[in-house]
Amino acid sequence: MIRIDKELCIGCGACIKDCPGNALKLEEQKAVSVRECIQCGHCVAICPVKAVSIPEYDMDEVEEYDENTFSISPKHFLHAIKFRRSIRNFRSEPLSREALTDILNAGRYTATAKNMQDCRFILVQEHLEELKELIWQELPQILSRLEEKNSPYFRPFRYFYKLYQHDPSVNQFFFNCTAFLVIGSLNPLDGGLAAANMENMAVAKGAGVLYSGYLQNLLKESPRLQKWLGIEDKEISCCMLLGYPAVSYKRTAPRKKADIIWK
Ligand SMILES: Cc1cc2nc3c(=O)[nH]c(=O)nc-3n(C[C@H](O)[C@H](O)[C@H](O)COP(=O)(O)O)c2cc1C
Repeated sequence: MIRIDKELCIGCGACIKDCPGNALKLEEQKAVSVRECIQCGHCVAICPVKAVSIPEYDMDEVEEYDENTFSISPKHFLHAIKFRRSIRNFRSEPLSREALTDILNAGRYTATAKNMQDCRFILVQEHLEELKELIWQELPQILSRLEEKNSPYFRPFRYFYKLYQHDPSVNQFFFNCTAFLVIGSLNPLDGGLAAANMENMAVAKGAGVLYSGYLQNLLKESPRLQKWLGIEDKEISCCMLLGYPAVSYKRTAPRKKADIIWK
C-alpha cells in the first residue's frame, strides 16, 4: 500500500517516527512498509527526498510546502471567523465552477476519523429547481409523519408550506440560494468538520452559506428525496445553502461569554 523507492530512501527514519500506525520499519538502512495502514500520507508528506508514494492516490496532486502560501496570521484567521455570517439572502448570479471546485476541495482535504475519507459531497446547482419541486411534492407526507411523531419541525414546515401555497415564489427552506450542498458521512463529525472548512473557503471566494438544520431534518424523513440525492447509504451530516451574499455586515455579531474551564 505504501511504496518506498529504495534508490531514493536515505534511511533517515523520519517516516517511521511519524507513522501513527507503526506500519514502517528500517531494514538494511531503508524504510519498508510492514503492514496495512490507514494511508494517512504522513510518510509521503515528511520524507525529505520524495521517496514515498501511495499508488492508490493520485500522486500528481501532492504539493510541495511553500512558506509564502502558508501564511494565515492568527489575527486574520480570528477576524475571518468573527466576520463570517449565516447568509439568508443571495444574489442571483450562480457560483462559478472554479469557486465550487475550491469549496469541494476544502471539504475533501479535511481530516476524517481513521482517515476514512468517507464523506460524500452532493452539490445541487443545475437541478436545484427540480429538487425544490420534489420537496414540495413530498411535503404533505413528510408533514403527516412529523405530526405523528410530535416533531418540533411540524409547525415551522407546515407554515413554510402555507407560505408556498399562497405564493409559490416564497421558499423558506432555500431562500434564494443558487446552490445546495448535502454532506453524507458515516461519522457525523467528519461531515461537520468538512462543512466548516467548506464554509470558510466559500467566504474566501466571496460567497456565503447557511447551514440548514431544517433541510437536514426534512431529508431524513424522505427516502425518495434521499434516493434522488444519492445519499441513501449515508447519514446526512450537513445541509448547506450557498451563493453570493446580497447582504453585507458592518460589524461582528456579539456572543455569549465563553464557557471555558481552565485547569
Ligand atoms: C448546524 C446548524 C444548523 C442551522 N440551521 C439553520 C436553519 O435551518 N435555518 C436558519 O435560518 N439558520 C440555521 N442556522 C444558522 C444559525 O441560526 C446561526 O448560525 C446563528 O444564528 C448565528 O448566526 P451567524 O451564523 O451569522 O453567526 C444553523 C446553524 C448551524 C450551525
